[in-house]
Amino acid sequence: MDISHQITGHTKVIGVIGSPISHSRSPQMHNAAISKACLDYVYVPFHVEVDAIKDAINGFRALDVVGINVTIPHKQLVMPFLTSISREAELIGAVNTLTFSDGEIHGENTDAPGFIKAMEEAGASPPKGKDVVVIGAGGSARAIVVALTLTGAKKVTIANRTEAKAIALAEDLSDKINKNNETDGNITQLIGMGLTDARLSYAVSECTLLVNTTSATMDNTHPLLIDENWIQSSTTVYDIVYTPPMTTLLIAASNRGCAVVGGIGMLVHQGAIAFERWTGVKPCVDTMRAALA
Ligand SMILES: NC(=O)c1ccc[n+]([C@@H]2O[C@H](COP(=O)([O-])OP(=O)(O)OC[C@H]3O[C@@H](n4cnc5c(N)ncnc54)[C@H](OP(=O)(O)O)[C@@H]3O)[C@@H](O)[C@H]2O)c1
Repeated sequence: MDISHQITGHTKVIGVIGSPISHSRSPQMHNAAISKACLDYVYVPFHVEVDAIKDAINGFRALDVVGINVTIPHKQLVMPFLTSISREAELIGAVNTLTFSDGEIHGENTDAPGFIKAMEEAGASPPKGKDVVVIGAGGSARAIVVALTLTGAKKVTIANRTEAKAIALAEDLSDKINKNNETDGNITQLIGMGLTDARLSYAVSECTLLVNTTSATMDNTHPLLIDENWIQSSTTVYDIVYTPPMTTLLIAASNRGCAVVGGIGMLVHQGAIAFERWTGVKPCVDTMRAALA
C-alpha cells in the first residue's frame, strides 16, 4: 500500500460507509487523488451495520470527520440524521455524500451531476432539448432521470423489465419536478414502459441518447435487452456499468458507428465532485481513473 504522506494530528479524515465495504474501490481512487494534490487528508473505508448507522453518524460528527461517502445499504437510511439535503438528493430519495461542518450534516447525491459531467467529458452533446431512452428503473436510473429532467431533456422514456417500476418512476418524477416548474419552464415528458412494449423500438430509433442503467450488462453472456438494429449511428450510447468497461451493449453500438460512453467516467466524477466539496480542491480525474484501473 502506498502511504505517501504521514498521518499526524492535523490529518483530516474522509471516508466511505457501507455493508459490505471491503470491495469498495473508493479508497484507492480518493487516496490517489489526495497524494497527487499533496493534501493532508486520508480516506478510510468503514464497515457499518444497519443498526449502527445513527451511532456512526454521531461518531463522525464528534470526531470532526470532514466528509463521508455512503453506499449500500445506507443511502436512504442516513437521511433522517441530516440537517440539510440538496434538492437533487431529495428527488432521488438517496444520498451518497455527507459533509460535516459546524455541527451540521449536509447530504447530497453526486451520481446525478457525475453522470452529466462524464458525458460532457466524453464529448457527448448535453441532454437539453433531446429525446433520451433509459433502460432500467432502479436506484441509478432514478438519479439519472432526475439529472436528465433537471438539465432540460425534452422526453425521457424509461423502459424496465418490471414495467410497473418504470411507470411509477416516470409518474413520481413528473409529479415532483414538472408540477413544481423547477426547470425554468422546460417540461420533460416522462414515459414509463416495459421492455416488450411495442413503442420502445420507435423511442430507441428516435433518441439522441440511450442509457443502460441495468446490471444485466455486467454479464457479457446476457442477451441484449433491446434489438441492436433499433439503434441509429447518430445516437450516443452510454452504459453506466463499469465492469466490464466495454459491455456487450457498447460493443454492439460501437459496431453500428455510435459514440459510446462507459461507466468509469461517472464513477470517477461522482467521486471527484465529493472530493472537491470536502477539500476545496479539484482532484486530478486522470489519477482517480488510473487508480481504479
Ligand atoms: N458508473 C457508476 O458510477 C454507477 C453508479 C451506480 C450504479 N452503477 C451500476 O449500475 C447498475 C445498476 O445499479 P442500481 O443501483 O440501479 O441497481 P438496482 O437498483 O438494483 O436496479 C437494477 C436494475 O437492473 C434491472 N435488471 C437487473 N437484471 C436484469 C436482467 N437480467 N434483465 C433485465 N433487467 C435487469 C432491474 O430490473 P427490475 O426492476 O425488473 O428488477 C433494475 O431496473 C449496477 O451494475 C451498478 O454497478 C454504476
